[in-house]
Amino acid sequence: MEQVAVIGAGAMGRQIALQCALRGFTVVLHDSRAESLGQAMSFYREYLDGRIAKGKLSAGDHDAALGRLRMDNALADAVKGAAIVIEAIIEQFEPKAELFRQLDVLCPADTLLTTNSSNIRGSRLAEATTRPGQVLNLHFFNPALVMELVEVVVHPAVPEAVIARAMDFCRRIGKTPVLMRKEVPGFIVNRIFRALTKEAVNLLEGGYATAEDIDLAVMKGLGHPMGPLRLLDSTGIDVSYLARMDEYLETGVEAAKPNDLLKQMYESGSWGKKSGRGFYDYAPKD
Ligand SMILES: NC(=O)c1ccc[n+]([C@@H]2O[C@H](COP(=O)([O-])OP(=O)(O)OC[C@H]3O[C@@H](n4cnc5c(N)ncnc54)[C@H](O)[C@@H]3O)[C@@H](O)[C@H]2O)c1
Repeated sequence: MEQVAVIGAGAMGRQIALQCALRGFTVVLHDSRAESLGQAMSFYREYLDGRIAKGKLSAGDHDAALGRLRMDNALADAVKGAAIVIEAIIEQFEPKAELFRQLDVLCPADTLLTTNSSNIRGSRLAEATTRPGQVLNLHFFNPALVMELVEVVVHPAVPEAVIARAMDFCRRIGKTPVLMRKEVPGFIVNRIFRALTKEAVNLLEGGYATAEDIDLAVMKGLGHPMGPLRLLDSTGIDVSYLARMDEYLETGVEAAKPNDLLKQMYESGSWGKKSGRGFYDYAPKD
């Protein structure tokens, strides 16, 4: 199996790396902060022990997966020999572009350079390299060990053979890829999620129904496992508001503009579960 390098050991990168290792790939996980690599290792111990305790993983498979996964805080060593690099660092363009510049120099010409970015398109990062046809988005979902989908998002410079390689890679790590042949902000899932949540917030803002009933309607009427307002609380009102503002400022499309209520919640620090209050109250009850 080819070697995979995952850059960024945060919430997404650490899980993507383990997913690849569990599926038999040799993986090197890199982060510029030693602390992140330490946290990833603690996460692996807890997660894998939990899988063994639930009877979902054998001790042998546990040891084999960890044996295939190495951590390295030197970028040049981490990407040496990698057939595919998956970037999962902070969601800011400049640090990502700088990383792609370095990867272009460090990696062999046929290494695929992919980004897990939710908003920054592969074609923009491709401009930082001399191999635009090998730069694309592989957009995983959180938690990456559980969620099956990967959006493979390409742009005109990416040839069919590279698309086929990327789709095949996703399948080999146990994921279900969907292909987007044209880039668009939000890709598929986040666009649909945004439309759904925007309308849910509109209904609440207009006083048409309570948050509980809006969520219940979507669960019982559309079969969703969780209502859109509770999901917004879980994802974080801050994350959703900032992503929407970004899209609105970039496109100028009125439909992308965040609802007034979302703006007020963002500005008042009602960020959902993480802040103890969002559409629902999460304050500990005494
Ligand atoms: N969190 C999500 O729900 C989610 C879902 C899909 C995609 N994404 C995308 O995944 C990427 C990572 O998100 P996350 O939530 O894992 O972030 P995170 O903040 O949890 O982790 C980012 C990690 O990158 C490291 N880092 C920062 N700059 C670096 C550099 N130059 N070189 C090496 N390491 C560096 C940080 O130390 C940190 O450990 C983002 O592009 C985001 O859009 C996130």
